[in-house]
Amino acid sequence: MAERMTLTINGKEQTVDYEPEMMLLDVLREVLNLTGTKHGCDNSTCGTCTVVMDGKAIKSCNTPAAKAAGTSIVTVEGLAKGMDLHPIQKAISESGAVQCGFCTPGIVMELYGLLEANPDASEVEMTNALNKHLCRCTGYEPIRDGAMIAQKMIKETRK
Ligand code: FES
Ligand code: FES
Repeated sequence: MAERMTLTINGKEQTVDYEPEMMLLDVLREVLNLTGTKHGCDNSTCGTCTVVMDGKAIKSCNTPAAKAAGTSIVTVEGLAKGMDLHPIQKAISESGAVQCGFCTPGIVMELYGLLEANPDASEVEMTNALNKHLCRCTGYEPIRDGAMIAQKMIKETRK
């Protein structure tokens, strides 16, 4: 029998019906049609399903849907303001860190969670966060460069 929960998605409170065996990733993609969050390995390895829940980056493929009840979730769809990309999206794009792009939403959300919580995160902290993500295309250096650029851009916007 379907369950029902209320949660906040990208700043908007929503009530959703879901099956008890669903993971948060399934609710986002199949119920809410938020397909920016990608379905990769399905076993907590690749990081492409990462979203931010109550300020913390989590893997939605291993988070039971019921755990999201009452929480506030930010997905990659929640970052841009209209046509204006979030600084992390701009930086990742400008540093050449996107090739096939499949891993990108998860990486962007990982950095969003980290830099919202700690705008002064060190390079090591950013590298550790990025180590939770697999990317088969870019060789990681452009992603690390993008993370550093994003941090600078965010600091500039907060001055
Ligand atoms: S799909 Fe969740 S970590 Fe790969
Ligand atoms: S850009 Fe292709 S997997 Fe990362």
